[in-house]
Amino acid sequence: MEFYEVVQRRRSIRQFEDRAIPRPVIERILDAGLKAPSSNHQRQWKLLTLTEKSVILEVAGFIRPYPCRIVEPKTPQQEMFQIAYPRQRRMIEESACVILPHFRQKYGLENAYGLMDYGATWALIENMLLAATAEGLGSVVHIPVKKEPLQIKEFFQIPDGWYLPAMVILGYPSKEARVPTQVEATLDKKVCWNKW
Ligand SMILES: Cc1cc2nc3c(=O)[nH]c(=O)nc-3n(C[C@H](O)[C@H](O)[C@H](O)COP(=O)(O)O)c2cc1C
Repeated sequence: MEFYEVVQRRRSIRQFEDRAIPRPVIERILDAGLKAPSSNHQRQWKLLTLTEKSVILEVAGFIRPYPCRIVEPKTPQQEMFQIAYPRQRRMIEESACVILPHFRQKYGLENAYGLMDYGATWALIENMLLAATAEGLGSVVHIPVKKEPLQIKEFFQIPDGWYLPAMVILGYPSKEARVPTQVEATLDKKVCWNKW
């Protein structure tokens, strides 16, 4: 798939077919992630990659499905909440692969230096989301919140100093997958040239 087509096509998918992803496909996605730019030339990453259904289900069990009371969404954001909130656990249960990209934190998060390793990990995540799209897969991220980060850390016995900014969830998209209306971000609205 041509690069700009991949960029246009990537959407967050939260419903997946019950179908395994071939290992070489997952490896290409992981490799695309590892090509991302990184702060201080460090690449302080470790990608814990889950493909065994029993392990994926254990991790899904830590994720709270959020109730959503929106019945008639009035904005694209409300439509997204309506689709996404109740599916936070289910989308993991249905997925064929979950990547937990950890980064090693060198500085405290309270200053700009501290954000560098975190930012680099998001560059890695976006590379993987685009690679997954190019492979014909659906993808979405889930940000571990509240007790989730600690439960995941304890379950996998992740050493101190390693952090998980987002879970990357992959699978072949279900034909019924609901995708909310996109918020338009156009050059006209979002870009100014040479002055604010
Ligand atoms: C920083 C960040 C956090 C996000 N957290 C979640 C999340 O926890 N659960 C989820 O289902 N989607 C999450 N998303 C996906 C967004 O909801 C999605 O990107 C947005 O609605 C735009 O839709 P699109 O990805 O289809 O373009 C997150 C995306 C970003 C960039």
